[in-house]
Amino acid sequence: NSDRADTAIAFVYRGTFVHSTQQTALQILKDALLGVDAQGKIAFIREGKELEKLSQTFGFKTSDITQLAQHEFFMPGLVDTHIHASQYSYAGTALDMPLLQWLNAYTFPVESCFKDLEFARKVYTQIVRRTLRNGTTTACYFATIHTEASLLLGQIARPFKDTQVTLRRLFIIYDFGQRALVGKVCMDRNDCVKHYKETLQDSQDETCRFIKELLEKKYPLVKPVVTPRFAPSCTGALLEQLGEIAKNNNLHIQSHISETHEEVKLVKELFPESESYTDVYRKHNLLTDKTVMAHGCHLSDEELALFRETGASLSHCPNSNFSLCSGVLNVRNVLKHKVKLGLGTDVAGGYSASMLDAVRRALDASKVLTIQDPKYKTLSFEEVFRIATLGGSQALSLDDQTGNFEVGKDFDALRINVAAEGGPIDLIQDEEPKILLEKFLNLGDDRNIVEVFVAGRRVVPITE
Ligand code: GUN
Ligand code: FE
Repeated sequence: NSDRADTAIAFVYRGTFVHSTQQTALQILKDALLGVDAQGKIAFIREGKELEKLSQTFGFKTSDITQLAQHEFFMPGLVDTHIHASQYSYAGTALDMPLLQWLNAYTFPVESCFKDLEFARKVYTQIVRRTLRNGTTTACYFATIHTEASLLLGQIARPFKDTQVTLRRLFIIYDFGQRALVGKVCMDRNDCVKHYKETLQDSQDETCRFIKELLEKKYPLVKPVVTPRFAPSCTGALLEQLGEIAKNNNLHIQSHISETHEEVKLVKELFPESESYTDVYRKHNLLTDKTVMAHGCHLSDEELALFRETGASLSHCPNSNFSLCSGVLNVRNVLKHKVKLGLGTDVAGGYSASMLDAVRRALDASKVLTIQDPKYKTLSFEEVFRIATLGGSQALSLDDQTGNFEVGKDFDALRINVAAEGGPIDLIQDEEPKILLEKFLNLGDDRNIVEVFVAGRRVVPITE
């Protein structure tokens, strides 16, 4: 808990802070003081009684301190480790088919519309605004195969600069300031919707162009991620190229794995030389410590061991897994194998863009496993809280920057008012912080999220 006394303090909050650490799923700091420096990093988090000493060391005045109310607390921002920004237009519909049919009937036809940049701008503006409003401070996005629209998603997510205020007013260009990984989708195989795919060469060239152009923009919180859609959409040659590109540029990688039994069977047929679905990705250098794979409902213990060995992580997407009847991820077994794990909404396979929904569906999924086998130890809300915050940041290899309130990390945080006026929660009496968090996770919504910070910048409420 060493302080960073070398920079000026931008602001200080005093009150309850809850977060996860490697050791404890839920650490509660009552009457704490948290200071954020001019770079948006956490400068100190100390007990309130140390106020005098701290204010001398860091040179802030008591008038710089904002006091939280009794029914308020700060928690780390939520990390959505898997979300299709491009599928938001039909979220809440089209949940009547299994995965492979669903892709052909709904997903590919909609994603092909992102050739139209105005359509892309509309949808991407809405999804970034909506997720941020619901407390997603970090999102790992799938876009579509279109490079220009994928770059636009990165632009919309990034923080705007003051000099662009007039531009924003004139052209109504919103850029919100969310931490984001953005992936241009790669797929050179599609037998059903034939116009929605690329050639091997295009996929490779456009991926390189996407990465180069996004990196050139130097958005501080936005990174490109190499994104083969999933093995059935890609030839072995494309997977190999993408593994190479990721390796040469030390990039993140995202894809899907073992979501449904039918898909696992298909991969066996398409890649007969591989020992397992996981082996397909591993063979093509796509399993690294910067890889996040969505779902993994039907992975074997041997495959989980490969995840552990390579440092690759899983994104648990319970709403999607229920909605498309894909499977139920055994989270205990993933944790037992010490595989890094985050939570994902998987919009639009998952119908909700809110990570609070993902938290609840993760608890439900674990209860389903307990119903099936009473010996299965149901996940606690504290454990799911950790997976939704610190776990997600670890799954995305961003835990050196975000995920909890450790000194030196960026201040990515939600100010929660459990008793928000007009909100969904009634408090009959004063409650302990642990109860406040539990009520918020189970009953709360965006009305309880009164402020959202990303890297020390307040991004909610959005000030025009
Ligand atoms: N597998 C390949 N593509 C997709 C997708 O868009 N959504 C989900 N849920 N699974 C996939
Ligand atoms: Fe997905």
